[in-house]
Amino acid sequence: MSSLLGKHIILGICGGIAAYKSVSLLRLLVKAGAEVQVVITPAGKEFITPVTLSALSQKPVVSEFFTANTGVWNSHVDLGLWADCMVIAPATASSIGKMAHGIADNMLITTYLSAKSQVFVAPAMDLDMMAHPSTQANIELLRSYGNIIIEPESGELASGLVGKGRMEEPEKIFACLETYFGRKNDLKGKKVLITAGPTYEKIDPVRFIGNYSSGKMGYAIAEECASRGAEVCLVSGPVALTVSNPSIKVINIESAREMLDACEDVFPRADIAIMCAAVADYAPSDVADRKIKREHDEVPVIHLVKNPDIAASLGASKRQGQIIVGFALETDNEFANASEKLRRKNLDMIVLNSLRDKGACFGTDTNKVSVIKSDGSRLDFPMKSKREVAKDIVDSILS
Ligand code: CTP
Repeated sequence: MSSLLGKHIILGICGGIAAYKSVSLLRLLVKAGAEVQVVITPAGKEFITPVTLSALSQKPVVSEFFTANTGVWNSHVDLGLWADCMVIAPATASSIGKMAHGIADNMLITTYLSAKSQVFVAPAMDLDMMAHPSTQANIELLRSYGNIIIEPESGELASGLVGKGRMEEPEKIFACLETYFGRKNDLKGKKVLITAGPTYEKIDPVRFIGNYSSGKMGYAIAEECASRGAEVCLVSGPVALTVSNPSIKVINIESAREMLDACEDVFPRADIAIMCAAVADYAPSDVADRKIKREHDEVPVIHLVKNPDIAASLGASKRQGQIIVGFALETDNEFANASEKLRRKNLDMIVLNSLRDKGACFGTDTNKVSVIKSDGSRLDFPMKSKREVAKDIVDSILS
C-alpha cells in the first residue's frame, strides 16, 4: 500500500515545456490513492489544458482568485490548510523568484505562501537560466525556508541545448513524495527528549556567561522528530525561535542546572535523547543578588564551578533500549575527540561538526556533520540545510 493513500496533495504547475510531464505525475499520484488539487499559473495553461488535468484529478483545476462565471472565490488559505504537502512541478525561474520573494500575484504563489505543510519544488528551465546567480540564490532561499528542492537533471533540453535544467522524471518526483510520507510515521509512539540552545549562567541580576548557540539545529531536529510522529520534549535554553508542531512540548530553562533537572525528570520515560544544547561547562560559584557596580576599587574576580555534564549523567542512568545521541563541536583532532566523548558519556551516537568547516557553526542555517556510532562506524554528510541535516540524523538513529 502506498504511503500516499488518502493524502491531500496540491500539484502546482507553472508555465514551462515540462508541464506535459505533470500529467504523468498527476496520474501516478491519483493511482496511489492521493487526492490531488491542481493549481496552475496563467502561463501554465498555455502549455497544458486544464480539462486534461481536471479529468485526471476529478477536481476543477484552480487558476484564478475567482471563478469567472460564478464569482466564487478560490480560497488559497483553505487550500494551504487542506494540503498534506504541495509539489510544484515544473517550477519555472519566474515562479521560483516570486516564491522566494513573496510576490503573490497569482493563485499558485498565494497558495504556496499559505501552505503549512512540506513543499517540494522541481525546477525546470534552460541551462543558462538555471545556472544564473539569481536563480541559484532564489533556490537557496527556498531551501532556507525548509522547501525540498528536487534537483533537475542534466540532459537534452527543449531548446536543443544540453545541460542541467530538465525537470526530474515524474517517477522520481513521485518516489520523493512516497519516501517523505513513508518516513512520516516512523517515530510514531516514540518519546524523544531534545536539548537545544545555549545555557546562561548568572553573574548578577543583569549579566550572565553564555555562548553563541542559536538553537537552530536542536529546533530543526525537534520539528523533524515531531513530523515523523514522535512526542517531543524540547528543553531549550534562551533562543529567539518558536516551534510550529503542536506535538513539541517546550520546557524553557536558563542554566545548566535547570536543564539537568528538566532532563532528569523527562529522561526515564524517553526512548531517545538528543543532546544538542551548548551547555556552559562552568558557572559562577556565587550569584550577586544586586548588580555589580563599577565603583569598586578592585576589578571583580568571578570564581567558577563546574557545571553538571547532562549527557554523561543521562548516559550513566541509561536503561536497556534507550538511545542517547550527543553532539561534538571540535576545532582540532575532531574524530578522536568526538569518539572519546561518545565513550566517556556512554552515548550511542555522536554528531560531529568541525569549526573548520565554513557554514557549519553557530547561527548559520547550514551544517556539515559526520555521525559516529558506538560500534565505530562513521558516516560523513555534505553541507546541507539544518532541516536536511536533522533528517539525516534521525535516519541515522533509526538505522
Ligand atoms: N553536554 C552536556 N552537558 C555539559 C556539556 C556538554 O550535556 N555540561 C553535551 C552536549 O550537549 C553535547 C555533548 O555533551 O551533546 C558534548 O558537548 P561538548 O561541549 O562538545 O563536550 P564537553 O564535554 O563540554 O567537552 P569540551 O568542552 O571539553 O570539548
